[in-house]
Amino acid sequence: MSEVFIARKVPQEVEDFIGKHCEYTKWEGVGEMPRSELLQQLGEVKGLLINQERIDQELLATAPKLKIVSNISVGYNNFVIEDMKAKKVLGTHTPDVLNDTVADLIFGLMLGTARRIGELDRYVKDGQWNKKVTAELFGIDVHHQTLGIIGMGRIGNALAQRARLGFSMNILYHSRSRKPEAEERYAARYCSLEDLLHKADFVVLLTPLTPETVNLMSSREFSLMKRSAIFISASRGETVDEVALAEALREGRIRGAGLDVYKQEPVNPNHPLLQFKNVVTLPHLGSATASTRFAMAMLAAENLVKGLKGERPPHIVPELQSLI
Ligand code: DGY
Repeated sequence: MSEVFIARKVPQEVEDFIGKHCEYTKWEGVGEMPRSELLQQLGEVKGLLINQERIDQELLATAPKLKIVSNISVGYNNFVIEDMKAKKVLGTHTPDVLNDTVADLIFGLMLGTARRIGELDRYVKDGQWNKKVTAELFGIDVHHQTLGIIGMGRIGNALAQRARLGFSMNILYHSRSRKPEAEERYAARYCSLEDLLHKADFVVLLTPLTPETVNLMSSREFSLMKRSAIFISASRGETVDEVALAEALREGRIRGAGLDVYKQEPVNPNHPLLQFKNVVTLPHLGSATASTRFAMAMLAAENLVKGLKGERPPHIVPELQSLI
């Protein structure tokens, strides 16, 4: 029986790396592995490589020998921390290697919404460009505007770098703690959430999903934003009250939105937020470039192997560090 189960397709080099250190089996089916099948594979498994599968009491009960779960993602809201603590199962994630890639995509959403790139792409391809460009096609500037970052972690920092050094933007941020480095390097100014919402031309929500951040952006928060401001959501969909966002857009209380994440993924094609011209949508792919996804999978494999060897994996999630 293998000690590792790979529940997600990974590049061959990553599989070979795991194979050098342990015996493994893997999901060979098409597409995502159904949870019911995963639960049948875990009887002897000590290490599990996954992406965003919920690790809770139900799964842990089928995996009595499990020591470590390695997520191929930086977000780990799929870990039910109390259940993992109770079973002394370590959880790791893949921070840092994706910062620049995700920040690039967020900047793409900012530019795409401000300059209406998706909408105007369709305008040209649909043959509507039959006269000189006039004001109804104008966008708004990104450079020299004020960017408000909610959740100034590693990705927020990479975004601030682009915004400040590349686009001369003023940076405001709201976070659990002050970030002296971002303040010094990018002249980022710490402020209350309310202040940020009042002042920012672009509000980017980057907070991890925790019980405290569910629906962090709701009716009250959207009503505090400028009518001319753009909202970008790029961490987890549950941090946004989507009904409130749709209402704010319908009533013209904000200018537009850029979304990479949704409460339900894949998002339903009939979702109200997909019906707005001034909303740019993407299918949750902030980190999705070939090289970054490779780096994430390899880092997850390294975490896994270290944990199985009894060494300290470099990226144990903070809430589970006390287990080792
Ligand atoms: C992450 O790594 O958390 C990205 O959002 C992909 O899930």
